[in-house]
Amino acid sequence: MTGAKGGDLLCAADLIPEGQARGFAVGSGAGRRDILVVRRGGQLFGYVNSCPHTGSPLDWTPDRFMSPDGQHLMCATHGALFRVEDGYCVSGPCAGQSLAQVPVADHGGHVRIVNR
Ligand code: FES
Repeated sequence: MTGAKGGDLLCAADLIPEGQARGFAVGSGAGRRDILVVRRGGQLFGYVNSCPHTGSPLDWTPDRFMSPDGQHLMCATHGALFRVEDGYCVSGPCAGQSLAQVPVADHGGHVRIVNR
């Protein structure tokens, strides 16, 4: 991304294979943010790991974010489904709302949060 500086290092890019997601805790104490990064079509998408319905984390167990068919991000609590590409909720109690986006990018084989 032009003009973007490298931010917090999350992991090696190959640890997030196509169609899969991974969760991260960034920072500590009151500044801690839980986020997830998912790869689709070779692109990385980052979101705050908090469901718009109740604020619960989305994952069933650590790093289990995908729906059984692998097409959507899925909330473990009440089954809301979110588009991978923009975090928009297409089904469930928070339909029409969206996950909060976190800009991420692959910088030289490492996934980082993009500082703007
Ligand atoms: S907390 Fe996510 S669907 Fe209810």
